[in-house]
Amino acid sequence: MFRIVVFVSGRGSNLKSVYNSIVNGKIKAHIFAVVSNKKDCGAIDFAKRKNINTYFVSSLNKVGSVSYSELVNIFESNRVNLIVLAGFLKKIPDYFVQRFEFKIINIHPALLPFFGGKGMYGKNVHRAVFNSGTKVSGATVHFVDTIFDHGLIIAQQCTDISNAKTPEAIAEKVLKIEHKILPVVVKKFVERKVKVESNRVFLLE
Ligand code: GRF
Repeated sequence: MFRIVVFVSGRGSNLKSVYNSIVNGKIKAHIFAVVSNKKDCGAIDFAKRKNINTYFVSSLNKVGSVSYSELVNIFESNRVNLIVLAGFLKKIPDYFVQRFEFKIINIHPALLPFFGGKGMYGKNVHRAVFNSGTKVSGATVHFVDTIFDHGLIIAQQCTDISNAKTPEAIAEKVLKIEHKILPVVVKKFVERKVKVESNRVFLLE
């Protein structure tokens, strides 16, 4: 069975969207674990309620935590196929990213390569989009490399925000798109229908 790990830091609505697609049979995979840099957050509560293994990751050796190098061993010995960053707010160490090259994806709540990079997360993204006056925003799923929000783009979908009166209104529209495209992309990985060629990513039918 294809094994997925989801990294989270917050409420976990994207985790739920992937989980629900698995439960309703659309994605034939198993969530092997949920990893967080927060001991308590909505996403971790959800994972515990669903009896999914949870790990608290820290580079600082905090009580009850695992390190990234321990996670490498756990994921390799359990043959994890895909790591999904779904609202994970910490930068992952380069050696970890390199070890799982083309196996880590992230969902970003804007249309990369714009409105990404260090500090561009959560509300900051939507505020920047709002202040820019742009009429469209959307969500991007991309491979993770060692630079923030920089890896190859896998999928994007846009939404009209010309009537949005606040950054929160943009966030709400974009989140609906996130919940659609993330499970679609994960399913493509499970079905081995993601191909990288000439620095572009193709999702096969
Ligand atoms: C989402 O907007 C995601 O794109 C961003 O952080 C937010 C996480 O939301 N990286 P949730 O925890 O999945 O509800």
